[in-house]
Amino acid sequence: MKGIILAGGAGTRLYPMTRSVSKQLLPVYDKPMIYYPLSTLMLAKIREVLIISTPEDIGKYELLLGDGSAFGMEFSYCVQERPDGLAKAFVLGADFIGDDSVCLVLGDNIFYGSGFTAMLQRAAHKKRGATIFGHYVNDPWRFGIAEFDSEGKILSLEEKPQNPKSNYAVVGLYFYDNEVVNYAKELKPSKRGEYEITDLNRIYLEKGLLDLEVFGRGFAWLDTGTTESLNAAGEFVKVIEKTIGIKISVPEEIAYNNGWISKEELLKTAALYDKTSYGDHLKRVAMGEYFSKIQEER
Ligand code: DAU
Repeated sequence: MKGIILAGGAGTRLYPMTRSVSKQLLPVYDKPMIYYPLSTLMLAKIREVLIISTPEDIGKYELLLGDGSAFGMEFSYCVQERPDGLAKAFVLGADFIGDDSVCLVLGDNIFYGSGFTAMLQRAAHKKRGATIFGHYVNDPWRFGIAEFDSEGKILSLEEKPQNPKSNYAVVGLYFYDNEVVNYAKELKPSKRGEYEITDLNRIYLEKGLLDLEVFGRGFAWLDTGTTESLNAAGEFVKVIEKTIGIKISVPEEIAYNNGWISKEELLKTAALYDKTSYGDHLKRVAMGEYFSKIQEER
């Protein structure tokens, strides 16, 4: 399975912060925003990732993330000339996807909660169809919304509805089989001129090939699209990290735990970030400190 991170868009809702800096490079507490969706793909055990951004910003992502070898991964980069919709990712990424299945994660979506890795791997191992994820929200008009019955069967999908049929937002994490490339190529732009991910999901729904996994109350999904939600996400990560005493969504740590990089490689990055709490964390991971902490807790 391949992975795509969509890190383009105009970011106008975060102006003036994003006039000269790409939104997904802004810090969320102690690391760049894109580290969070990257971590999500890594927890799904996806090693080949395409990063899509604007012509102005793509070089900055390459500077930050390189060819992926620091994470034991392979990164490719692609430019989206205009922010003309999320579904465009599969047209731009068609060659990269090849004959594979694919997971798309939006560069501004943060996930945290127990059981997440198992959920991701379940979706990644599905042979046919697509999987989307739902999370309860109080402002459903801001999102793609899924209406479903008591068995979890999806009844309808709507993008930013004026009269939402439910309070369950479809989050920015989508798993598809290879057919998605063909479906995306056939899509027409919506009234607001975008190639909508919701239209793509509706194709799978109509074919009876769309599964919905709903996150429970113990699960946090944060979309960092506005100043308010960006700051809330930073606060959330800070509180979680201070409370449990361990950093979250650290790609180098996940790479090490996945067996994708050696202890020496981990220490090399730790040395690069010397004198920061991030570098210190990597060093402690390499020394096995957190592993023994987990053992003690058991
Ligand atoms: O966050 C979940 C929501 O994301 C879903 O519930 C909606 O169904 C989905 O349409 C999307 O809605 P947003 O209004 O949040 O999408 P936004 O335009 O903010 O774009 C999401 C991310 O994708 C953002 O990081 C910018 C990037 N993007 C967006 C567009 C339209 C691109 O890279 N290229 C694009 O063309």
